This record gives sequence, structure tokens and C-alpha cells, in this order.
Amino acid sequence: MIIMVNIILVPLWTAMAIQPNLLQAKGIQVLPPVNFTLTVTALAEVLLHWKPNPDQQQNYTVIYDVEIISPVQEMYDTKHTHSTRTVVLHDGFSAQIRTLLFYNSSKIGSEWVTEELPALAGDAETSVTNLFCIVYTASYNTPSLHCNWFAGKQAPTDTVYLLFYRYNNYTEQCPDYLQDKWQRNVGCRFSKTYIDPKQIGTLIIIHVNGSSKHAAIKPLEQLFNQDTIEKINPPRNVTISLEQNDTLVTWEKPISPLSKAWFCYEVIIHNLKTGTNQLSKSTSNDFKFRMDVTSRYSIQIRANRQYNEGFWSEWTDPLFIGEEQKKNQVGWVLILVTVTTCFITLFIAMACKMCHLWSRLFPPIPTPKNNLKDLFSAKDYEIRYNFSLAPHRECYTRARTYTSETETEVGSYIDDLGSYNEDLYCEVLEDSVI
Ligand SMILES: *[C@@H]1O[C@H](CO)[C@@H](O)[C@H](O)[C@H]1NC(C)=O
Ligand SMILES: *[C@@H]1O[C@H](CO)[C@@H](O)[C@H](O)[C@H]1NC(C)=O
Ligand SMILES: *[C@@H]1O[C@H](CO)[C@@H](O)[C@H](O)[C@H]1NC(C)=O
Ligand SMILES: *[C@@H]1O[C@H](CO)[C@@H](O)[C@H](O)[C@H]1NC(C)=O
Ligand SMILES: *[C@@H]1O[C@H](CO)[C@@H](O)[C@H](O)[C@H]1NC(C)=O
Ligand SMILES: *[C@@H]1O[C@H](CO)[C@@H](O)[C@H](O)[C@H]1NC(C)=O
Ligand SMILES: *[C@@H]1O[C@H](CO)[C@@H](O)[C@H](O)[C@H]1NC(C)=O
Repeated sequence: MIIMVNIILVPLWTAMAIQPNLLQAKGIQVLPPVNFTLTVTALAEVLLHWKPNPDQQQNYTVIYDVEIISPVQEMYDTKHTHSTRTVVLHDGFSAQIRTLLFYNSSKIGSEWVTEELPALAGDAETSVTNLFCIVYTASYNTPSLHCNWFAGKQAPTDTVYLLFYRYNNYTEQCPDYLQDKWQRNVGCRFSKTYIDPKQIGTLIIIHVNGSSKHAAIKPLEQLFNQDTIEKINPPRNVTISLEQNDTLVTWEKPISPLSKAWFCYEVIIHNLKTGTNQLSKSTSNDFKFRMDVTSRYSIQIRANRQYNEGFWSEWTDPLFIGEEQKKNQVGWVLILVTVTTCFITLFIAMACKMCHLWSRLFPPIPTPKNNLKDLFSAKDYEIRYNFSLAPHRECYTRARTYTSETETEVGSYIDDLGSYNEDLYCEVLEDSVI
């Protein structure tokens, strides 16, 4: 860009260095525009406005040469006396303009007039950092917008950040923030936005400012192209069919107002027998592959905009095809069953021991006034009885009942020491039995 600008500038400046004298001799003046102003008309939008020099001779064609100096260098010509730019303004903005007069098939420039906007006020390192936004188009008409950021390094703990987005003429403040451990806003969700999913390449302008009692919070602006921050929906209706010796995978485009032609896909075919993955790209809505009949495969697909501009969708749920042929399948099943049975038996045995022990210490319905001897004998009885019926569930129930009733000293003791372990053992036991 800069190189190109230089190449264009050189002949222009050469022409200007030679021409003015010649023009003066002929009584032709090229005068700079007047009343050049910069006005912020919306978030990250500046209007450049100027007037033709009233002393400029009217019988020559003039245009204006505009150079944006910062934040991003840009040069262009215009016939108009105004121009609007969308650009981040937190670090200020500066531009210069001049009149260009056409004379004898060359362009002769006037002096430049420069104007600038100061940087937005605020203390160093109080701006948010790592600002990032994603557009979700889960339903056709109301894309949502999620943004996240980090608080600035020097942002006091009482900082309140506010986020605004602008899309064409619409500006909205964030209605729903996520907060960090100091309750500072560090994320935002717009569940509905004015973002039009049919638009291509429209900018989403984000402005985050803030306030604090202890520091001036410097605003930050950032521009996102809606195409590059859209999280694409996954492909739909994936089907697998056999076509002669090939396996044909087909799917439909993701939910989106954009047509089929806008999407590309990745297909991952995972061979469960060999453990190998085959990743392929596709711009059509189907994919063929040759199966090894002794293998089982899982197939998943994800979508993106063509040229991978957006964020890849989630992978679709895996679809399986083929039967893996194992030789000693029956043998393996037998071994598995035996091992599982052993473990279950062991667990039951251990759990019975545990529950028995705890039950001894604590009655099923402990009342603070019971004397200890009564308590033990009553419990022994109940436990034996219960074990013969449903030991595991009883064990679980007991643990639960107990922790909710911890008024006696014995109660608080078990609370400290035992309830967690007991719950844990019994839950494991239940899981393994069920
Ligand atoms: C430029 O601005 C000044 C002061 O605002 C005004 O008096 C003058 O008429 C303007 N010039 C033109 C050409 O509009
Ligand atoms: C433009 O007008 C000036 C006088 O106002 C005259 O000297 C000049 O020759 C004119 N140029 C053209 C191209 O008409
Ligand atoms: C226009 O330019 C050509 C060469 O660039 C020159 O020969 C000619 O004299 C010029 N005419 C006038 C009117 O300046
Ligand atoms: C924004 O609003 C102005 C007038 O209010 C209108 O002329 C313009 O077309 C609108 N632009 C967009 C992109 O909606
Ligand atoms: C933050 O920006 C919004 C939108 O430009 C503005 O209305 C608001 O006054 C600003 N707040 C602070 C604290 O700068
Ligand atoms: C899924 O695909 C099949 C076969 O192409 C088609 O018959 C069916 O209508 C599709 N289902 C949906 C929900 O699009
Ligand atoms: C399919 O595979 C079988 C066995 O490998 C082969 O005989 C047959 O020609 C193949 N058919 C096609 C259409 O490739």
C-alpha cells in the first residue's frame, strides 16, 4: 500500500515542483480548500467536510485529494466536498486535503490543509484488551453477538466497562454482561441484534468505554467484519448410503440465509479399527470414499464459509458405518464379564463393611436425648435387617438423612469426618450395581 502511494506521489510532486511557476506565469492559481472540519457522526465514524476555496478560478476542473494520515494511512480523490470514514478513533484521527486542478492533461495540486481529532481521553492501560466477538446465527432473523475482553492492567477494581455495538445506523448498549472476580464487566451478550445475516462484509463496530472513581478509563474501539466472526451452524441431515463399492455421505447446508454456494465443508472419516483419520475438504454437499469392509468408521462433517472466513461450525454428531470384524469377540466378552463380576463383588463387600461401620456409629433417626447404649442396639438391629433387603440403597439414604440433621455433637463430628466419604462410597456402589 505504502509503496503504491509513493509511486503515485513521485510524478505528482515532480509535476507540482515544475508547474506552479508555469501556472503563475499564465495567471492560474491552485488554492487549498477552506473550512476543513472533522466531525464524529457515530461510533468509529468521522465526517470530513470542507469548502472550495472561494478565490479558486471556477473555469478549471478541480477535485480533492484526501489523505488519511492516522490511524490507518489511506489516499483517495473525490469530486465532493465531504467524505465519511469508518475507522477506530480511540487513538485520534488526522487527515489532510488539497485541491487538484486539471490543466493540459496533468493534475496540479495545491498546498495541503491538515486537521486532526485528539485521542480519546483516559489513563494508560485502562482500556480493555483482547476484545473479541462472535456472531451466532442460530435462527434466521436474529443473530446474536457475544464479546469477551480482559480488563486493562491499570483498570481499578471498581471499573465499570460498558460495551456498545454499531451496525450501519443502529447503535445499542449491551444488556447482559459477564463479570470477573471483582465484578468488572468482561463479557457481553446481545441475544438479538440488528446484524443482517444476508449482508456480506458489513462492519460491526464495537466501542468499550468505562468509568471508575480512581482513574479515567480510556475507551477502545474495534471493527469486525461480520463474515469473519460468524460461527457457522453445523451441516444438517447427514446421511450415509452405499453406492456400488463406494460409501456416499450427503448433507444439507447449515441454517443460514446464504445459499449453498457460500459454504465449504470438512469431512473427517475415522477408521475405528486402525485408529486413523482421513480429513477431506469439499465444496459440494456430498463426499465419496472407499470402505475397507473389515473396518468400522465414524463420519463427522463441519461447515464454514467458503475461503474459511468464519469460524468452523461444530462437528456433526458421528455417524457410524461398517462392522469391525474381531476374531476372539466371544472370548473377550467372557473375560470382561468375569472381571466386571469380580469387581462388583469386591465393591459390594467393601461397601457393606463401610456402611456397617458407619451405621454402628450413627442411628438411622438420631435423637439428641437417646442414651448411647439404646442407640447402638437399636441400630444393630436395623442394619442387619436392612442389609438382607437392600443394603446399598439404605446406605445411600442414611448418609443423606444424616448430613441434613447435624444438631448433636456426634452429628457435627461425622459431618466433619465422614459424610463426604460415606456419600462417595455409597454413590460408587450404587453406580456399579445399577
Ligand atoms: C469558513 O468559516 C468561517 C467561520 O466559520 C466563515 O466565516 C466562512 O464564511 C466560511 N467559509 C466558507 C467558504 O464557507
Ligand atoms: C479562466 O478564466 C481566466 C480569467 O478569469 C482566464 O484568464 C483563463 O484564460 C480562463 N481559462 C479557461 C481555460 O477558460
Ligand atoms: C501542454 O503540455 C505539453 C506537453 O506536456 C506542452 O507541449 C504544451 O505546450 C502544453 N500546453 C499548454 C497550454 O501549457
Ligand atoms: C442511515 O440513516 C440515514 C438517514 O437517517 C439514511 O439516509 C441511510 O441510508 C441509513 N443508512 C443505512 C445503511 O441504513
Ligand atoms: C460511553 O460511550 C457511549 C456511547 O458513545 C456514551 O454515550 C457514554 O457517555 C460513554 N460513557 C463514558 C463513561 O464515557
Ligand atoms: C434429509 O435427506 C433426505 C434424503 O435426501 C430427505 O428425504 C429428507 O427430506 C431430508 N430431511 C430434512 C429434514 O431435510
Ligand atoms: C466392487 O468390488 C468388487 C470386489 O472387490 C469387484 O469385483 C467389483 O468389480 C467392484 N465394483 C466396482 C463397480 O468397482
